[in-house]
Amino acid sequence: MISIIGAGKVGSAAAFDILRHRVSDVILIDVAGNLAQGEALDMMQAAPAIEFDGKIKGTSDFREMEGSEIVIVVAGQGRKPGMSRIDLMNTNAKIVRSIVKEIVKYAPRCKLMLVTNPVDVMTYIAYRESGFERNRVFGMGSILDTLRFRSHIAMELNVSKEDVRALVVGEHGDSMVPLVECSSVSGIPLRCLLEEKRIEQIINLTITSGSDVIKLKGSTTYAPATVIAIMVDAILRGRNRVMSVSTYLEGEYGFSDVSVGVPVILGKNGIERVLELELKSETRLKLEKSVSMVKEAILELEE
Ligand code: LAC
Repeated sequence: MISIIGAGKVGSAAAFDILRHRVSDVILIDVAGNLAQGEALDMMQAAPAIEFDGKIKGTSDFREMEGSEIVIVVAGQGRKPGMSRIDLMNTNAKIVRSIVKEIVKYAPRCKLMLVTNPVDVMTYIAYRESGFERNRVFGMGSILDTLRFRSHIAMELNVSKEDVRALVVGEHGDSMVPLVECSSVSGIPLRCLLEEKRIEQIINLTITSGSDVIKLKGSTTYAPATVIAIMVDAILRGRNRVMSVSTYLEGEYGFSDVSVGVPVILGKNGIERVLELELKSETRLKLEKSVSMVKEAILELEE
């Protein structure tokens, strides 16, 4: 069983994705009135049509998360058009700190997944405040950026999205670092298929893709929700999938005391291993800049 805290658009869509793919039972928690109960009831009524027997429960009571294998924190303010993820930081830090206290109380053995933005800073806070081992605390960010990068590459080349593999590391924000050298189409390096100028344009599209959606419809929903479900599946089924996930670094890539997106093996224990890559000096500089953005934000956190 897993719990999702925050029954807004992303939290509810993730819950439904997890149920309909029969990954896990879900407890959906939201402090706002009856929202979680309403969402859960709505999902239960869809159950016969999609033939799932999974359980979904909506509640405002944190105690219900007891026994959860994974607790996912989605609660907090979302970005409005024109806002950066960092603009949300101090408001959401307060919310995340108080939720982490409840998680430590009721689900002390869970894997803790952060989705609330700015996700790298929230992952850092959750790691520090929970006292959990670092393999149990991680954030959903760069894997979403990676999927967006893959979509844009596939659309540009008019090839199946399934055949495009790629990797984005660093901050889940404007300083993210799409790794062109780790991107390919069925094993064919991206640089053999596209000119450098076109690749640059795709990178820029990837960086703005979250805000592009927010400008049009006010928030992002399906892409983040789907990625949450993929991560839950990787963990509960012990699939050891390789994904870029916000991780507290202890010297990897030469960084420490910060959480940012790096490739990891995600399995039963959460982060099974951090994968360290040799980066070209130009890419390394970009990653350093991205990490320093997150570090500066952490320093600006109010107590
Ligand atoms: C996004 C939010 C979840 O990028 O950060 O869609």
